Amino acid sequence: MTTLIRNGTVVTATEFMAADVLIDGEKVVGIAAPGSQPWEEGADKVIDAKDRYVMPGGIDVHTHMELPFGGTYASDTFESGTRAAAWGGTTTLVDFAVQVHGERVMDGYETWMEKAEGNCAIDYGFHMIVGEVTDQSLKDMDTLMGEGVTSFKLFTAYPGVLYSDDGRIFQAMQKAAENGGTIMMHAENGMVIDVLREQAIARGETDPIYHSITRPPITEAEATHRVIAYAELAGCPLYVVHMSVKEAVAEVALARDRGSNVFGETCPQYLFLGWNNLREPDFEGAKYVCSTPVRDWEQGHQEALWKYLATNDLQLVSTDHCPFCMGDHPTLGTQKRLGEGDFTAIPNGMPGVEDRMRMIYHGAVGEGRLSLNRFVEVTSTAPAKMFGMFPQKGTIAIGSDADITIWDPNASHTMSVEHNHMDVDYCAYEGKEVVGQIELVMARGNVLISDGEYHGKPGDGRYIKRGTSQYLI
Ligand code: URP
Ligand code: ZN
Ligand code: ZN
Repeated sequence: MTTLIRNGTVVTATEFMAADVLIDGEKVVGIAAPGSQPWEEGADKVIDAKDRYVMPGGIDVHTHMELPFGGTYASDTFESGTRAAAWGGTTTLVDFAVQVHGERVMDGYETWMEKAEGNCAIDYGFHMIVGEVTDQSLKDMDTLMGEGVTSFKLFTAYPGVLYSDDGRIFQAMQKAAENGGTIMMHAENGMVIDVLREQAIARGETDPIYHSITRPPITEAEATHRVIAYAELAGCPLYVVHMSVKEAVAEVALARDRGSNVFGETCPQYLFLGWNNLREPDFEGAKYVCSTPVRDWEQGHQEALWKYLATNDLQLVSTDHCPFCMGDHPTLGTQKRLGEGDFTAIPNGMPGVEDRMRMIYHGAVGEGRLSLNRFVEVTSTAPAKMFGMFPQKGTIAIGSDADITIWDPNASHTMSVEHNHMDVDYCAYEGKEVVGQIELVMARGNVLISDGEYHGKPGDGRYIKRGTSQYLI
């Protein structure tokens, strides 16, 4: 099956060119000046992309489908979450398999493989959350490298749940230095945060806003500084997840200036949301409870994060998609409302896998903060390179997977739960008008979305055995 996308403007992280794109089966096999090749005659399918941008599919390297958290589960399954991702222009995601305390890493990995297999609409890979660093866990990290799981997340947050102490984190870092893996850190000082949370509750400060107030910027900046120091000592690559605070990213920038393999991601919620959202009345602020928390607009974190994306001190934007319903979920029951009257019991996480591409296109290109090329880089190319999937993923080039989105830059879209497909009952950006409209989404040559319809099915997506980070110096 051959498909010709003709007359479009092909945009990658480095190019902006009028071109026809020829796809044979799952791969891009030709890129040429419009009409310069006789491709139309033999093509099985022709898609006209006049006045449209033809861009690589989005890659979201931070999602949590079905994550157990706070007495419930993230409401999207691999089936619903990957379908929603496709609707939002994302054609690959990397989710987190989880080892909980007392369980073996390999058992957690196998559980997540089973959850995903046969259910995904788009290609998927896994990072591994190492919830308990033991001798066996360290051995399993080696095994996973051979399975294409080349990145391991540890936590200085969530004491008693996923937290590891500094010594255990350092041991995992030494292992990564040895086997070539990347350590991903959730960097917040969970011990100090727990004290602040207890004190707030004792004072009767129970509303969602206190979730952010009890996780002050210094708790993220300090933990980021600390894990960078340990990673430099161990000699492993370090990737700090869901960064929300300018002082924390400044630590990443300093480390990068020293020549260290230190990287950072941020997420749309930190670029667009703040305390005004957490303060929404009638417990509506719970919609925006996630960790790290959304921050105080007044302190300038949002614009600083955009600037750090422009200067490449932050390399990419993921979602940390981890949805919980405000009302009762049909099978999972009460979710966000578990924390009514006690913000510490609100499940942490927000929906976003379907929103990311539109929101970042709007904030970057629509509002003039990043170039179109940089938009492609932070949403697709950098995620592919950071986690060992480039150039199979993350670009439009001969030999690459035909993971392609076609955008109308002159149309607009209203962000709304009404238009979304995630298994959650709200949109964090409800009512926001964004520029640009995703018209077509193709994954490995297969059109998943066109004419406002979904044409995919569970099992279209394949497991990606990833390589090691392609950014290391
Ligand atoms: O609030 C969040 N981020 N929930 C998901 C778990 C994590 O820490 O990434
Ligand atoms: Zn985290
Ligand atoms: Zn996460």
